[in-house]
Amino acid sequence: MVVRREYTFGTLNREDLNLSPVKQFSSWLDYANEKGISDATAMALATADKKGTPTVRIVLLKSFNSTGFVWYSDKRSEKGESISERPSAELLFFWKELDRQVRIRGKIEMVGEEEVRDYFLSRPRESQIAASISWQSQPIETRLELERRYEEFETKHDSDLVLPAHWKGYRLSPSRYEFWQGRKGRLHDRFEYSRSVETSDDWDITRLQP
Ligand SMILES: Cc1cc2nc3c(=O)[nH]c(=O)nc-3n(C[C@H](O)[C@H](O)[C@H](O)COP(=O)(O)O)c2cc1C
Repeated sequence: MVVRREYTFGTLNREDLNLSPVKQFSSWLDYANEKGISDATAMALATADKKGTPTVRIVLLKSFNSTGFVWYSDKRSEKGESISERPSAELLFFWKELDRQVRIRGKIEMVGEEEVRDYFLSRPRESQIAASISWQSQPIETRLELERRYEEFETKHDSDLVLPAHWKGYRLSPSRYEFWQGRKGRLHDRFEYSRSVETSDDWDITRLQP
């Protein structure tokens, strides 16, 4: 099947860009939300293990600022293992209706336990239970077994739940961003932000060929 679509939603010019990439991201995310894009905070998280084997999956962005982009997961999962071996990754947002893609690359650090606990306790109880009883990415014989564990846990814990030791927050600290705006005839607009000095908050902005 051949899929061919023209990208005509908009344009991206140097003068439209905020000098701060996190502000640029924030304005694009706000716009995606204003336009009613569903799951605008869903991002592909690409990692590699110590052998260099790449893996990718969707996670949800839960907070961000100039220090980093945060998501939560099970540290025992395949991605958790990869991140502990190689704490670098790239995030990718694709807002199809806007013909926009954002890539954010950087190093990963663990979020402090207080912040993780606060977020965990703010989640709906059923999400807390699911995170508590699941060993993410391990095999399980049947769905029934999962449901049995859920119910058993729920009856044993009628009061507040505690943060499971395996449930972690990850923060990617960006060293490179790329903003992509699809254009007609495949002459897309692409701008890369890279840090002029690794530790500074000055960013070089470069237009890339499509
Ligand atoms: C829309 C969407 C949101 C998701 N959000 C998360 C998330 O925030 N954290 C998470 O661990 N997995 C999330 N998942 C599940 C992951 O994609 C993945 O299946 C899981 O984390 C196991 O990945 P791994 O085996 O590579 O570690 C989400 C999946 C989808 C489709």
